[in-house]
Amino acid sequence: MNVVVTRVFPFLLVVLGVYLWIGYSVTQLIGGGKRTSAAVDISPEGGEAIYWGKGRCFTCHSVGGQGSAVRGPNHGQFGEKFPLPMGARAVERAKERAEKEGTKFTAVDYIVESLASPGAYVVKGYKNEMAVVYAPPISLSLKEIKAVTAYMMSLGGDLDMEAIDTAPSEVTQKFYSKIKAAAAAGGGDPGEGAVVFEDNCLDCHTLNGEGGEVGPDLSGISAKGLKFISESILRPAKSLTKGFETYVVIDKEGRQTIGLKTRDEAGEIDITKANGDVVTILKENIKQIKTDETKSVMPDDLAEAMTVKDYQDILSFLMLQKPKPKAEQ
Ligand code: HEC
Ligand code: HEC
Repeated sequence: MNVVVTRVFPFLLVVLGVYLWIGYSVTQLIGGGKRTSAAVDISPEGGEAIYWGKGRCFTCHSVGGQGSAVRGPNHGQFGEKFPLPMGARAVERAKERAEKEGTKFTAVDYIVESLASPGAYVVKGYKNEMAVVYAPPISLSLKEIKAVTAYMMSLGGDLDMEAIDTAPSEVTQKFYSKIKAAAAAGGGDPGEGAVVFEDNCLDCHTLNGEGGEVGPDLSGISAKGLKFISESILRPAKSLTKGFETYVVIDKEGRQTIGLKTRDEAGEIDITKANGDVVTILKENIKQIKTDETKSVMPDDLAEAMTVKDYQDILSFLMLQKPKPKAEQ
C-alpha cells in the first residue's frame, strides 16, 4: 500500500503541474493575465518586468551579475569594463554629447535614443545589433518604452519621472513620436521603411526635395492619415489625387499614350508616362483624349512585391513625414 502511494503521488503531482502549465501558457497566448500593455505601469518596477520579460532585453544584456548575456553592454556596474551602472552612465554620455555638439542633451534623451534609434550611437566595442524593440517581434508600446527607460534611469541615475513621462524634452518627444508612429502602423520600423521607399517609390515621388516628379510630393503626407496612405498604396485608383488623373490619348495613327497630363499649351500637350518618359503630342494629331478614373499611373501591384514587414515599415516611415512649420518652408 505504501509503495503504491509513493509511486502514484509524484505521478499525480506531475499531471497536475502539466495542467497548470497548459492553463497558464494558454492565458498568456490569448493575452490573458496581467501582461497586456494597457496595464503597464510607467515605473522602474514596470520597466524591470518588461526588461526581463516581453522586452527580451535580457537576451542580449545583463544587469551587473544578474543574467548572463553579453551581446550588448552590461547595464549594471560590472568589473572594470562597466564602472558605472546605466543611469549614471547615461548622465556621463549625455554630458559628453552636449559638450561636443553644443546642444542640450539629457540622460533620458540618451536612453530613449538608444531605444528609438539604436544605430544613432553605437557603444564602442559593440556591433550595431541592438534590436528595434518597438518593431516586431518585440513590439513594445510607447508606455512600455517609458517604463523601461525609468528602469534604466533607476540604475544609478536620478530618476525624474517628469522628464520620462509627463514633460519630456524636445529631443525625447521627437523619439516618442517616432515610436508612436511605428506602433500606429502596426509596429513597423521607419528606418527600414526609408530603404523600402527608396527602392520602390522614390523614382516617382519627391520627399524633402529628392526623387522623381511623376507622382505627388509626399513630404508632408502624414497629415492625410494612415488609412488614406495605406489605401493609396494598396489601391491607388481608389483615391486618385486631384491633378494626377490618368489620361488616355489616342492619336490619328491609332497610337495610345497613357500617363499624366503635365503640360497643356496652345498647340500641344505633354503626357508623362509611369516610367517618367515625357511624350509631346500635337493637338491636331489627337483623335481622342479622355481620363480614366479606374486607373492610376501608380502601379497597383506594388504591395504584392512587398512583404508584410516592408509594408508596415513603409507605413511607419510615411507617418513620420510631417508637414514643415510655415516658417521653415
Ligand atoms: C539583439 C540584442 C539586443 C536586444 C534584444 C536589446 N539590446 Fe540593447 N543593445 C544591444 C547592443 C549590441 C548594444 C550596443 C550597440 C549600440 O549601442 O547600439 C545595445 C545598447 C543598448 C543601450 C546603450 C548602452 C550603453 O552602454 O550606452 C541601452 C540603454 C540598451 N541597449 C537598452 C536595451 C533595452 C532596454 C532593451 C530591451 C527593451 C534592449 N536594449 C534590447 C543589443 C540588444
Ligand atoms: C510609376 C510611378 C509611381 C510609383 C512607382 C509610386 N507611385 Fe505613388 N503615386 C503616383 C501617382 C501618379 C500618384 C497620383 C495618382 C494617385 O493618387 O494614384 C500617386 C499617389 C500616391 C499617394 C497619394 C498622395 C497624395 O498626396 O494624395 C501616396 C501616399 C503614394 N502614391 C505612395 C507611394 C508609395 C509608398 C510608393 C512605393 C511603395 C509609390 N507611391 C510608388 C505614382 C507612383
